[in-house]
Amino acid sequence: MTRVLVLSYSSYGHVRACAGRGRRRAFHARYPCRPAPCALCLVPETVPDEVRHKAGFAPDDTPVATPAYLEADDAIIFGTPTLFGMMAGKMQSFLDQAGGGWARNALVDKFAAVFTSTGSQHGGHKAALL
Ligand SMILES: Cc1cc2nc3c(=O)[nH]c(=O)nc-3n(C[C@H](O)[C@H](O)[C@H](O)COP(=O)(O)O)c2cc1C
Repeated sequence: MTRVLVLSYSSYGHVRACAGRGRRRAFHARYPCRPAPCALCLVPETVPDEVRHKAGFAPDDTPVATPAYLEADDAIIFGTPTLFGMMAGKMQSFLDQAGGGWARNALVDKFAAVFTSTGSQHGGHKAALL
């Protein structure tokens, strides 16, 4: 059975909300009566608690992934806000730790999709998705 991982980062909850909707859609897309297992995880936060508190980041108790999660599932949907015209550094840092799986070809033959959120219409979402 196909297994899907929706892996995201979110400071203020917009990407997290999209991730939840993406998960529900992936869950029911192929076999409405036999949904695919679909996990929802976040990449680890790197912003200190004090800064998160002052900046009003939204609390989130979604399970946090390790790079090994990338190897476990058949398809991965990545979600990140656009921060300064790029993917969030937390997502980049997470992916930078996937070198072991990459070297073992453990990431080959997986389906993947990406989504992002911006504060403005032309805020760099294409660069973030790259
Ligand atoms: C540090 C920072 C940098 C941002 N940079 C951009 C940007 O370059 N372009 C843009 O359109 N929006 C930018 N935004 C807005 C976010 O992309 C937007 O609010 C997004 O929906 C936040 O997602 P989240 O609620 O999941 O954290 C930035 C926000 C922050 C906090």
